[in-house]
Amino acid sequence: MGKNWFLEKKKEPWYRKAKREGYRARSAFKLQQIQERHEILRTGDTVIDLGAAPGGWSQVAKELVGPAGRVIGVDLANIAPMEGVQFVRGDMTKQETMDEVLRLLAKGAKGTRVDAVISDMSPQITGNYTMDQANSVFLCQHAVAFARKVLDAGGRLLVKVFEGEDYPEFRDDLKKSFHTVKPYNPPASRKQSSEIYLVATGFKPARPTTPSGAAAT
Ligand SMILES: C[S@@+](CC[C@H](N)C(=O)[O-])C[C@H]1O[C@@H](n2cnc3c(N)ncnc32)[C@H](O)[C@@H]1O
Repeated sequence: MGKNWFLEKKKEPWYRKAKREGYRARSAFKLQQIQERHEILRTGDTVIDLGAAPGGWSQVAKELVGPAGRVIGVDLANIAPMEGVQFVRGDMTKQETMDEVLRLLAKGAKGTRVDAVISDMSPQITGNYTMDQANSVFLCQHAVAFARKVLDAGGRLLVKVFEGEDYPEFRDDLKKSFHTVKPYNPPASRKQSSEIYLVATGFKPARPTTPSGAAAT
């Protein structure tokens, strides 16, 4: 990223507001705005924040869940410590990272029960939009697979995805596991951005099946 990109960023109002208010990233306001519209997080929730670096969403999530809640952030990058939040450094497309998060969860009072998974994961931008979009959907598919494993019935998922060819199929797959799936673009998203946030509520766990494959009664 060049000098111009950095200068542009410093002029950006959400960036300056984040600096003023002590948030680690401008994306903190996106989560606040999504929360105002959709109430994705509640007091006392256990929340997994995927793609958490540098920690803006984790700060907002911790404020929303309060002292009785729990926030675990995961990222490829190292994240500076934050009071009341636990971080795992790892790749969410790898089983070993998911296992580490599960181990950490199991040590808490509520065990592996999770109320909400929020994912702001973004791929490394290559400049080839078709590839970037496919990589974004790939990350989202892992976020959804993880959410399907850990969410309590009725749980919530917030996931950022780049719009494009693979988007409709991804959204339709999500609809199989949640009562409602709504797209939302918070005002703090850059106008020219192709990212969209999907807010999925009312998680429906898959019904256990009998050995013959029929749904158990
Ligand atoms: C837009 S940033 C997230 C900003 C964050 N929500 C905040 O408010 O500070 C996207 C993050 O996704 C992370 N990421 C990308 N691929 C990942 C993966 N496979 N596993 C974990 N994190 C990943 C990147 O390292 C990057 O920090």
